[in-house]
Amino acid sequence: MGKNKLKKFAEMETLPCVHQYPFADLKATGTCPLRGRWNEDVFHNSAPITLELGCGKGEYAVGMGRTYPHRNFIGIDIKGARMWTGARQVCDEGLSNVAFLRTSIHLLPHFFAPGEVSEIWITFPDPQMKKVNKRLTGTHFLEIYRQVLAPGGIIHLKTDSPFLYAYTTGMISHNSLPLIAATDDLYHSP
Ligand SMILES: C[S@@+](CC[C@H](N)C(=O)[O-])C[C@H]1O[C@@H](n2cnc3c(N)ncnc32)[C@H](O)[C@@H]1O
Repeated sequence: MGKNKLKKFAEMETLPCVHQYPFADLKATGTCPLRGRWNEDVFHNSAPITLELGCGKGEYAVGMGRTYPHRNFIGIDIKGARMWTGARQVCDEGLSNVAFLRTSIHLLPHFFAPGEVSEIWITFPDPQMKKVNKRLTGTHFLEIYRQVLAPGGIIHLKTDSPFLYAYTTGMISHNSLPLIAATDDLYHSP
């Protein structure tokens, strides 16, 4: 592993906006101590919580956090070195409404109580053309999101993959989910 990556991992341990739980701890207790308590223990307010799944550097979590100071945002990714960029920005700018959680999206129900999440953003996920079970808009993942979303909760997908766009449209229909809005040409849409 590169020196730079190791440095980032070490720094992540010290950044107050970053939450990471070793899988062994989770296995022992079954849940994260923050489950159902993100507002009380992390944000210290009762504002709605939005997740950015597969956040990478957390561009959306940080950008939305700046734009909507009265909402809370949590960027989630399994890769810590990418997340470090967003986490550093959050600390440097003192954004108290943005946090990061390093874990696998499969484990969301261990980290969030039913109804604790208001909205989910899935930003430019890998379309996973060969591995259907890894597609973040597949039925298996939609069921995971349902377990943590509040009634009426919204899922936003932004993708530049026509394949994933078509697949997700099919999944929405297959799972009888209401479609609020869709465009296949966002930047030329009103
Ligand atoms: C193509 S990148 C997109 C990153 C970012 N959203 C962007 O737009 O630049 C996909 C990201 O999703 C993360 N990811 C994919 N599957 C995941 C999973 N099951 N749990 C956590 N993170 C996941 C990867 O680690 C990667 O950082």
